[in-house]
Amino acid sequence: MSNQIEGVPYLDLASEFHTLRDDWVAAIDRLGSKAAFILGDAVTEFQQEVADYIGCRHALGVANGTDALVLSLRALDIGPGDEVITSPFTFFATAESISLVGATPVFADVDEASFNLSPSSVESRITDSTKAILPVHIFGHPADMAQLRRIATEHGLKLIEDAAQAFGAKSGEAIVGSLGDTGCFSFYPAKVLGCYGDGGLVTTSDEGIFEELQQLRNHGAIAAFTHTQIGYNSRLDAVQAALLGIKLKKIEQDLAQRQKIAAWYDERLEETDALPPARPDHGRHAFNLYTIRHPRRNALRQALGDAKIGTNQCYPQGLHLQQVYSHLGYQPGDLPVTDQLCTETLSLPIFPGMTEEQVETVCEVIRKA
Ligand SMILES: Cc1ncc(COP(=O)(O)O)c(C=O)c1O
Repeated sequence: MSNQIEGVPYLDLASEFHTLRDDWVAAIDRLGSKAAFILGDAVTEFQQEVADYIGCRHALGVANGTDALVLSLRALDIGPGDEVITSPFTFFATAESISLVGATPVFADVDEASFNLSPSSVESRITDSTKAILPVHIFGHPADMAQLRRIATEHGLKLIEDAAQAFGAKSGEAIVGSLGDTGCFSFYPAKVLGCYGDGGLVTTSDEGIFEELQQLRNHGAIAAFTHTQIGYNSRLDAVQAALLGIKLKKIEQDLAQRQKIAAWYDERLEETDALPPARPDHGRHAFNLYTIRHPRRNALRQALGDAKIGTNQCYPQGLHLQQVYSHLGYQPGDLPVTDQLCTETLSLPIFPGMTEEQVETVCEVIRKA
């Protein structure tokens, strides 16, 4: 006789909101009283706290994670005629940002265990036009930064981290975002560090890149009403920065909860056909998503849906096969690991505050399926 609770949401942002509401409302009150809505202390303080946490010199709040990537590429002087090698197994914004600056995304295949860019596949795609490598720490699993840095150095390439899903992930002892020429973060609500709207951030330890990013964020201005290039209006909102500052204080607690939930899943999935996500050899998975592989993924997703358990199919199609990139000429089978993962992966519910009983409810359906 089962005493299972009914259904499990994929995410539960409303419960978290209620625990933070009073602190955030008080912060908005303070900002409102000073009419400090654009940049100002809330953004400056948050940027400094993130830079300290990540272990880099600078952090710059921007409007969203896509802009973090676009501004990074622009600051590194990447544009038309340039190729950027990236992962096809990611959210569209990764490749979109490369296209938005006029460069060409070149897709390398991913590693079967980590779902991250395979360094050997990256190496095989380097041409005279390659300007940068753009690895994604997918689902919170740190990419193989040691190998990618070695390749970038050998070939004189820039290295841009897409850390949108990986706030707090570690590669060895280093927190991601401190390992590339720039690190790009998204604070979309569902992220490990998420705000209640859109937000993003770029990290760097290079003074020149930082100055360039600052100008690009603010209409390409070097001083008031003085513009030396075409930039963007891409500032992190002060009210979002205030919330993010509150959430940053409990980030280690949230990451520890995500680790615990992942361990509950791992243990329970042992006797099933589901393959739990791999852990980095050295470092820390941030578990933005807990993504399994399963030989009968579609049937499993249906069974979980019937039991009112939220799941997501990250990702149903490699970016190399998206219609918008058909002119690049990739065919099914060109990146076989990515193609295979797209038929097998399924992201299960994971969020701070998720209980062991909820994990059991999900796993019970998987066992039966
Ligand atoms: C890997 C990755 N890169 C970039 C982005 C873009 O971030 P944003 O939605 O904040 O623009 C996302 C967001 O979903 C993402 O998951």
